[in-house]
Amino acid sequence: MTSQPSEQRIQELREEIRRHDKLYYQEAAPQISDREYDGLKKELERLESTQSELELFPNPETQEDATGESPTKTIGDDRLEAFESHRHIVPMLSLDNTYDKSEFIEFDRRLRRHLKEKADEKELRYVVEPKLDGVAISLTYSNGELEMAVTRGNGTEGDIVTQNLMHLEKLPSKISGSNVPRKVEIRGEIYMTYEEFLRINEDRQEAGQSLYANPRNLAAGTIKLLDPKEAKARKLDIVLYGLGACEPMEGFGRQTDFHQAIRDWKLPTVENLWEVGSIEEAWEAIEELNVLRHDYAYPTDGAVVKLDSLELQRQAGSTSKAPRWAIAYKFEAEQQETVLEEITTQVGRTGNVTPVANLKPVLVAGTTVTRASLHNADEIARKDLREGDTVIIEKAGEIIPQVVRAILENRPTGSTPYEFPKICPECETKLVQAEGEVARKCPADDCPAKLRGKIEYYASRGCMDVENLGEAVVSQLVERKLVSVVSDLYQLTKEDFLELDGFGDKSAENLLHALEESKEREVWRLLCGLGIKHVGAAAAKDLVRSMTSLRHIAEASTEELTAIDGIGEIMAASIRKFFEDEANLQLLDQLEQRGLKMNSGEGVEGENPLYGQTFVLTGSLESFTRDEATSRIERLGGRVSSSVSKKTSFLVAGPGAGSKLSKAEKLGVEILDEPTLLEMLDS
Ligand code: IVH
Repeated sequence: MTSQPSEQRIQELREEIRRHDKLYYQEAAPQISDREYDGLKKELERLESTQSELELFPNPETQEDATGESPTKTIGDDRLEAFESHRHIVPMLSLDNTYDKSEFIEFDRRLRRHLKEKADEKELRYVVEPKLDGVAISLTYSNGELEMAVTRGNGTEGDIVTQNLMHLEKLPSKISGSNVPRKVEIRGEIYMTYEEFLRINEDRQEAGQSLYANPRNLAAGTIKLLDPKEAKARKLDIVLYGLGACEPMEGFGRQTDFHQAIRDWKLPTVENLWEVGSIEEAWEAIEELNVLRHDYAYPTDGAVVKLDSLELQRQAGSTSKAPRWAIAYKFEAEQQETVLEEITTQVGRTGNVTPVANLKPVLVAGTTVTRASLHNADEIARKDLREGDTVIIEKAGEIIPQVVRAILENRPTGSTPYEFPKICPECETKLVQAEGEVARKCPADDCPAKLRGKIEYYASRGCMDVENLGEAVVSQLVERKLVSVVSDLYQLTKEDFLELDGFGDKSAENLLHALEESKEREVWRLLCGLGIKHVGAAAAKDLVRSMTSLRHIAEASTEELTAIDGIGEIMAASIRKFFEDEANLQLLDQLEQRGLKMNSGEGVEGENPLYGQTFVLTGSLESFTRDEATSRIERLGGRVSSSVSKKTSFLVAGPGAGSKLSKAEKLGVEILDEPTLLEMLDS
């Protein structure tokens, strides 16, 4: 008989895996490492296989449903309601994976047994590719034109995300060359380089927003942004490595032919590729890749080994989850042990209290790690992390260090669970937790930590860019009660600065000069620096471009705000809330009195002939590139958007225009040809 505990464990594991699937696929915010996740899956598979021998405990998720369709949930589901779905012609399967060399070698034996009559005694030829750590994508080209880009979704049906990828440099909207099929699904990965990941996280840090744990999560979050403009502001990359449906199938006998063909069509392919004649050679290639990949500009988490012959691939076939002709060998993330010396908390400008692990310095993947964010109280409780614990730190493809878990055997006797502070570590006000939110906040308006955060944010590079007004200076200004709102900065005198540690004549004058200069900053910077929830640089630019003055924005109704392209309901509500607060209106008055620029000269009706007009470009242009057209429209005060909506003023349609043209027609948007656009630009 099966024992009760293993049934219970199966239920627990299924629930746990479902929870992590949702975090990974839909929220792009996983809480455990890939290795831990794969471990849970393996444990479940093992228990289920013993159980299913007894047929006592069928897994509803791996049973076929009434339609006879294969199960889909077992490989996760990234679909979101806001996106239109599309059914893949050939389903997008997952890959079996292993971290173990002997299991990897066993894959070849199993495959050969499976193909026994066909593969004779010969070795099988394989292709070894890097396994990029990004998000799977399927591109459909019809008659050489990019028709759509679709996420994997549940494997059968995914979300159409073309709008968020249109601008990718490496993604041609047309392909040409020999043997371009009538219709082809090409599979690949959307990813983000480390450099771009760091740039965005730095901006987010300055803006007091939560950080992305790794480039993969950030890529996944970007693909699913509802506003293509926001997606465009983050640089994604793409690489292609697989064939889905293809009509006609001519010219492809092997995976290597596929790579050659897409190279001819100028589509991006993997950085290194090994064609090998046996599984042993495949292993050598994996070892080479494990050295080379450290110089790649983007994260990889393994190697994918595929049978080269497409005919043999067909013969090998697939299980409901994964092909039998391919396997992923995953590299271990670099982990190190160290001691969690202390858990401290930090209060951000919005009052969020974030716990931080202070670690005994340890070298992980090339850098010394001394601190790691523990995100929130729930995370600490879930992992039961305690001060004094020996912990495992991981960086993997992740540049930000994470505390994976505590080593319980090493836990000092008498240690107690961590208790999250009930009062603000800075001003001792009782913390509050909003319903349904994990964050605990300090509600005090005069909390010095919040104040420091607000001023640092105002002065930061992404906002008012006041040189030399960093953490150390701000902290003294707040401590001495010289500044309690940002407008106070403009009343500071040379004497005030001379009182602060580390200031001399020259440095005091420099800072005064920097503050004086900041009065002339572009208005969107000032708006951004006010720190209105949800209003980052992109939104601030949109608002100023269309309303020109801070006063207009402060007085605008919700309807006027949402009429601006790029401003949605949530942002509008947040802007209204901010300017309904009397203290914020006073702040605006003071900033104006102290000489800050509150109106933008640009974008004023009359001076800019295309002011207030939104253009969408589709199809091909002959006399200039899209980028040139965009900058000429913008120079005349107009805007270029990547999607057609009822707010679009003109659709510029060149030859080959597709779905945007029909959408514009449906919405009654005025359609221009290229010569008419040129006339508008020249007039
Ligand atoms: S082939 C049916 N090749 O890894 C074969 N996948 O863990 C499907 N991936 O869903 C994929 N690099 O998102 C393949 N060179 C590569 C890959 C690769 C990354 C991803 C892909 C897939 C996942 C499976």
